[in-house]
Amino acid sequence: MQLPLQRLGSGQAKRRQGGLRHLEVKDYQPLVKVVNAWFGGRHVSYLLQRSFFEHFRPTSFAIEKEGEILGFLIGYRSQTITNKAYIHFVAINPDYQGQGIGRRLYQHFFEGAIKLGCTEVSAITSPVNKKSIAFHTHMGFEILPGDAEVDAIPNFV
Ligand SMILES: CC(C)(COP(=O)(O)OP(=O)(O)OC[C@H]1O[C@@H](n2cnc3c(N)ncnc32)[C@H](O)[C@@H]1OP(=O)(O)O)[C@@H](O)C(=O)NCCC(=O)NCCS
Repeated sequence: MQLPLQRLGSGQAKRRQGGLRHLEVKDYQPLVKVVNAWFGGRHVSYLLQRSFFEHFRPTSFAIEKEGEILGFLIGYRSQTITNKAYIHFVAINPDYQGQGIGRRLYQHFFEGAIKLGCTEVSAITSPVNKKSIAFHTHMGFEILPGDAEVDAIPNFV
């Protein structure tokens, strides 16, 4: 999915829940233990690598309240196409979904990407993750053509 940054919407987070900070290496172990549950039981923890927490720190964020991470985003600027930024992973604790945390993380990432000279943001999600597709579409992303289809949704295999 892709979003040209000049088409950014103006939606606002519903209410500010917790403080936003960079993701740190110390966050890897606690988060890798909970992400499968945050994805409703899907096995996604293999998508998190400790190295991402170390090397993508400048463009990866957590929202934390009283020492507990409510949601986080791992992203980076492309090393190859330097006007492109990429969101690799986003997850919000189910107890806090639908409260504007995803939007806040994305908006913060977009602002940082613009400062780095990016004009487009891409994100990846699974064709089975209808909620994520709905969230990204709502945030202004368009689904890109893939090399296959699952449930009529373009997919890369
Ligand atoms: C998908 C996810 C990241 C969204 O984060 P969130 O904090 O729940 O979303 P927000 O409350 O910030 O919603 C932001 C906007 O998207 C909209 N939105 C969120 N989920 C939506 C859905 N399922 N359908 C339609 N719109 C949706 C909200 O209405 C809101 O709109 P507004 O700001 O204009 O009022 C979160 O639900 C999540 O972590 N899900 C499980 C893990 C997952 O699927 N991650 C994505 C994998 S790529």
